[in-house]
Amino acid sequence: MKEKEASKSSSGRRAPKAGKAPAALEAQPVEDDAGQRDYWEAIRAAYVVDPDRINLENGHYCFMPRATLEASFDHARKVNLLGSYYLRTSQEDDKVAVRRLLADFAGCELGELIVTRNATESLDTVVSGLDWKAGDEALMAVQDYPSILEMFRQQARRHGIVNRVVSLPNHPDSDEEIVSLYEGAITPRTRLIMVCHMGYITGQILPVRKICEMAHARGVPVMVDGAHSFAHLEFRIPELGCDYFGASLHKWLGAPLGTGLLYVRKDRVAGLWPLFGDTGRGDDDIRKLNHIGANPAHAELTIADALSFHLRIGSARKEARLRYLQEYWTSRVRGSRGIVMYTPAESHRACAIANVGVERLAPREVANALLEKYGIWTVATDAPDAGVRGVRITPNLYTTTAELDALVGALRKLA
Ligand SMILES: Cc1ncc(COP(=O)(O)O)c(C=O)c1O
Repeated sequence: MKEKEASKSSSGRRAPKAGKAPAALEAQPVEDDAGQRDYWEAIRAAYVVDPDRINLENGHYCFMPRATLEASFDHARKVNLLGSYYLRTSQEDDKVAVRRLLADFAGCELGELIVTRNATESLDTVVSGLDWKAGDEALMAVQDYPSILEMFRQQARRHGIVNRVVSLPNHPDSDEEIVSLYEGAITPRTRLIMVCHMGYITGQILPVRKICEMAHARGVPVMVDGAHSFAHLEFRIPELGCDYFGASLHKWLGAPLGTGLLYVRKDRVAGLWPLFGDTGRGDDDIRKLNHIGANPAHAELTIADALSFHLRIGSARKEARLRYLQEYWTSRVRGSRGIVMYTPAESHRACAIANVGVERLAPREVANALLEKYGIWTVATDAPDAGVRGVRITPNLYTTTAELDALVGALRKLA
């Protein structure tokens, strides 16, 4: 069955669309410092912020701004009111409308994108969906996300594939150093490379496009883990040149918990087996990968509202602000005695996420002290295999420089 346009749902109601910008958040001239301050204060006011602690752990889940949260309640009320009538009459069209919004934003075709529950589901759908043969090789990094590494290990047990794992430098000298690390581990049996666009431990941004070009020249497809890059960095998925891309939308898009996306380049769809059985659709219909059964429709509907909030700010301005916040605090502690920075200093190699260690303390001791003595919520990342023994610090759009000053002061005292 061909996909419908879905501008109206079958119940006659309008299908989801990215809403109009409220005046306060509309693009404003913010060149001068005061304008900047007013603008970002307005953005902070768009969130309900927990007064009990300074939240610098937005890498796990970026909670929703107030308007998105309210929209999710409205959607939940509507779905609850209509019950099965909604699921049987309108849900399908609404799903297409949400996918279309996301595909437009991501720069891909509708038939290349589905909504999933998170990046794990998206990426695992690809890893489990390939037609692996014993002896096939997959290439990845120690620094990749553990859940996805687990899925590769499972394929090794199930199908006898060989997982080759490279280790990435925390402070690379050049893009070429990274590209050649992957290139050097390719063999005639390599069937897939997994690359993390923005690493979950240090926030390092990898030269994904260059890796894809190198891999394709060697005939190897690339799956990009975009859990942290989507709606954080300004880019369109096809610009990366990858074959597969998975992201969580409850991270940087600020959508409800339990939303993600999977992009599969058109010519790669037919080569994937669905994780949840679906023989009814054509092999080249990406919806075959989305047969997940009944699921929280209101969360999916709210993606349109989250996208609307994001678009009011704009991808470029959001990326610039997030990088500014990271560099605001890292520039104040980098090079200080007793402090170790695990995130590269070059602007293009990091954005909001950064990782810092205190030489005399274990990561857990630093995270505990930050929370107990200074009321700052972070996460310890004790990952000696990845060359990191620090705490991950992740501000978000509502974070103030005063909160980062508190972090800087605390780190200096701990060091
Ligand atoms: C790089 C990376 N990939 C994948 C994931 C998995 O995301 P989720 O738990 O939303 O599936 C995470 C989660 O933090 C991540 O950091």
